[in-house]
Amino acid sequence: MDSLVEKNKQLFHDKVVVITGASSGLGYRIAREFIKENANLSMCARRLYKLKKIYKGKAKVFFQKVDVSDEEAVKKFIKKTVKIFGKIDILINNAGIAQSSKIEKINYKDLKKTFEVNLFAPVIFLR
Ligand SMILES: NC(=O)c1ccc[n+]([C@@H]2O[C@H](COP(=O)([O-])OP(=O)(O)OC[C@H]3O[C@@H](n4cnc5c(N)ncnc54)[C@H](OP(=O)(O)O)[C@@H]3O)[C@@H](O)[C@H]2O)c1
Repeated sequence: MDSLVEKNKQLFHDKVVVITGASSGLGYRIAREFIKENANLSMCARRLYKLKKIYKGKAKVFFQKVDVSDEEAVKKFIKKTVKIFGKIDILINNAGIAQSSKIEKINYKDLKKTFEVNLFAPVIFLR
């Protein structure tokens, strides 16, 4: 039993995990679990102060301020991740926003942003 637990502890230790939206909520909780698993983590969000507060000084961790709807910023972040860790094994496309207004009140700018963050960004990351 002990060796099984030990083996599982090692499951992610050499893996490189990218998590978008790691500054709060689910992304933060997922990151916390991977840190416990001794994985290498590359994370982004818009609120750099939050990322610094949570992850600064932690080993095997890289984080950067990135708005995932900014294609060029995403490309740079991925490039930097590969430069630091040499590869990406797991992508957690977590960053997302929700709009909760009546259809007649939704403005085009907000709708566009929602699609950019929730739909286009995950595809850019996957590519
Ligand atoms: N919680 C639920 O019940 C639920 C249900 C269904 C789906 N989901 C989905 O699960 C994901 C996480 O939800 P959550 O409840 O943890 O939400 P949350 O607490 O609002 O966290 C969202 C995360 O995404 C980041 N983010 C938002 N827009 C971003 C952008 N343009 N660029 C980079 N990062 C961005 C935020 O960081 P910054 O603000 O620092 O950028 C934050 O870290 C979302 O995609 C959400 O739509 C959640």
